[in-house]
Amino acid sequence: MRSKSKILPVILAAILLLIAAVIGYVQAGNKPQMPVRILFENTGGKVIFSHLTHHRDYQIDCAKCHHDKKQMELSENDEALACGSCHPNEFNEDFIVDHVDSFPDETYCVRCHHTEYGEVIFDHEEHKDYASDCYDCHHGKEIEPEPQNCANCHKGEDSGDLISMRLAGHESCGSCHEDMFDKGLSSCKSCHVAVDMTQYEGDYTSCDSCHESEIRELVLPRMNAFHDQCMSCHEEMGAGPYGPDNCNQCHISR
Ligand code: HEC
Ligand code: HEC
Ligand code: HEC
Ligand code: HEC
Ligand code: HEC
Ligand code: HEC
Ligand code: HEC
Ligand code: HEC
Ligand code: HEC
Ligand code: HEC
Repeated sequence: MRSKSKILPVILAAILLLIAAVIGYVQAGNKPQMPVRILFENTGGKVIFSHLTHHRDYQIDCAKCHHDKKQMELSENDEALACGSCHPNEFNEDFIVDHVDSFPDETYCVRCHHTEYGEVIFDHEEHKDYASDCYDCHHGKEIEPEPQNCANCHKGEDSGDLISMRLAGHESCGSCHEDMFDKGLSSCKSCHVAVDMTQYEGDYTSCDSCHESEIRELVLPRMNAFHDQCMSCHEEMGAGPYGPDNCNQCHISR
């Protein structure tokens, strides 16, 4: 015959386990879950990506794929940004408006908005000696009655005959300093002081004010970001689908 004293601890243990399970369930519900599988629906045909398998079984660190954080240990309960918040289909008006709110904080901005220019290095007094007279740089009386700040007339944008301040500066300084423009972007720092972006609080300059390249050459668009990351790892490890003949191993329907 069973004594009550043997059943009671079992019941108590069961109740405790149940409470623990409920607490665990509720707590887990508060955290963003690491998806087990991800379905991508796209014009190339659906792709099912076994997310957990890649991490757990193929032993790939989160940070190898999620390079959106300063590289720290991530566990299965950690958050990660969707790739599309940085690698959209199009860098159009929608992206420009929406992307500003897709990051947890401002430390993310610096990854792309990596530099801004502050003061221009220019010693006016010394330059008076370098030039033969004031009109090497200033216009004659017909345009500039008195030598004065260029920005009194030249503004942020071109307007009619009046070129922007940027062009006015570059053209005028460049008439003696052609060499300072020779090495593409890396020569800009001969005149422009770069701002420390970790402290920066101003507006962001559009990429093409400094770069002549298209934005999609600077930040990978969505399809390229996925193809590049998925396939270059498969190729590197000699495992998983890559190459021109294996599209159907990822794209299961068309
Ligand atoms: C092999 C690459 C890879 C590994 C390893 C990986 N992930 Fe992911 N993860 C992805 C991709 C791709 C997505 C889909 C993102 C999207 O849809 O834009 C994703 C999505 C996520 C999401 C959902 C993001 C969202 O808002 O849609 C979370 C959270 C996440 N991963 C966390 C993790 C964590 C934590 C780890 C490590 C334990 C990890 N991932 C390991 C590639 C990976
Ligand atoms: C917070 C913004 C951000 C997120 C989120 C993000 N990326 Fe990127 N990614 C970038 C930037 C910026 C670059 C440009 C080069 C750099 O800084 O590494 C880049 C570069 C890349 C490259 C080029 C090669 C390399 O590794 O440098 C690939 C591929 C890529 N991302 C894929 C992905 C995938 C896949 C995801 C989601 C799992 C993702 N990215 C999430 C910002 C992001
Ligand atoms: C090498 C080109 C150059 C030469 C030579 C030059 N200037 Fe200038 N000057 C400039 C630039 C550029 C500015 C605008 C400076 C700025 O915004 O800091 C300027 C600004 C000025 C200003 C307005 C300054 C202020 O703070 O309001 C005066 C006045 C001026 N120059 C007078 C002269 C006179 C007089 C001479 C001749 C003795 C002369 N400049 C020679 C390029 C030059
Ligand atoms: C009072 C207004 C005014 C000021 C101040 C002024 N500009 Fe101009 N700038 C003009 C106008 C107007 C034109 C267009 C002239 C034309 O097309 O003939 C012009 C044209 C130019 C051009 C292109 C044509 C050329 O002359 O080579 C350059 C470069 C230029 N400015 C540089 C400067 C610089 C550098 C300063 C300051 C040192 C300056 N400007 C100050 C009004 C001004
Ligand atoms: C009339 C010719 C002339 C013009 C126009 C001119 N500079 Fe200069 N600049 C010189 C000379 C000459 C020197 C001293 C020798 C040298 O370092 O090349 C100099 C020196 C400099 C230096 C210091 C370079 C160093 O390596 O230390 C800077 C920075 C500079 N200029 C910026 C400018 C800027 C910005 C403008 C346009 C607003 C400008 N200069 C316009 C002739 C000019
Ligand atoms: C020889 C000196 C010099 C060099 C080299 C130079 N700049 Fe400039 N830059 C100037 C001057 C002067 C201005 C006008 C200053 C102002 O707006 O007050 C200017 C203005 C600009 C502006 C507009 C800033 C604004 O606030 O509107 C941009 C953007 C810019 N430069 C980008 C570049 C890039 C990119 C490079 C390298 C490819 C470069 N500059 C190289 C002298 C230079
Ligand atoms: C993945 C790269 C990336 C990240 C991260 C990013 N941006 Fe951008 N941002 C861009 C691109 C690309 C544009 C389009 C700019 C262009 O046309 O040159 C842009 C444009 C902008 C513009 C409009 C600039 C203009 O006048 O053309 C603002 C403002 C801006 N971003 C703010 C932010 C802020 C704030 C953050 C962080 C919360 C941020 N961005 C994070 C890539 C990024
Ligand atoms: C104020 C000027 C400026 C702005 C604005 C700017 N960049 Fe750059 N960027 C540079 C300079 C300068 C370099 C080269 C640095 C060097 O060579 O030391 C560079 C380099 C890069 C590179 C490395 C590859 C290359 O082309 O050399 C990438 C990627 C890049 N920028 C992306 C961006 C993106 C994306 C934006 C807009 C969100 C942006 N940049 C805005 C000045 C700028
Ligand atoms: C950092 C490396 C890495 C990245 C990034 C990566 N994979 Fe893989 N993938 C692997 C490895 C390792 C295997 C294992 C192959 C095996 O064991 O045969 C694999 C296998 C696969 C397989 C076949 C087996 C399975 O698990 O389904 C598919 C499909 C696959 N990956 C899709 C993707 C997709 C889609 C992406 C991008 C969203 C991606 N992978 C990103 C390393 C990676
Ligand atoms: C390793 C897995 C993998 C392989 C192999 C692969 N893809 Fe993809 N492909 C993806 C993923 C992931 C996406 C992104 C899905 C999304 O945007 O949601 C994608 C997106 C696409 C898109 C959609 C573009 C859009 O904007 O809708 C096309 C088209 C495409 N792939 C064609 C191909 C072709 C053609 C091949 C063979 C040469 C190929 N893919 C091989 C994983 C793969």
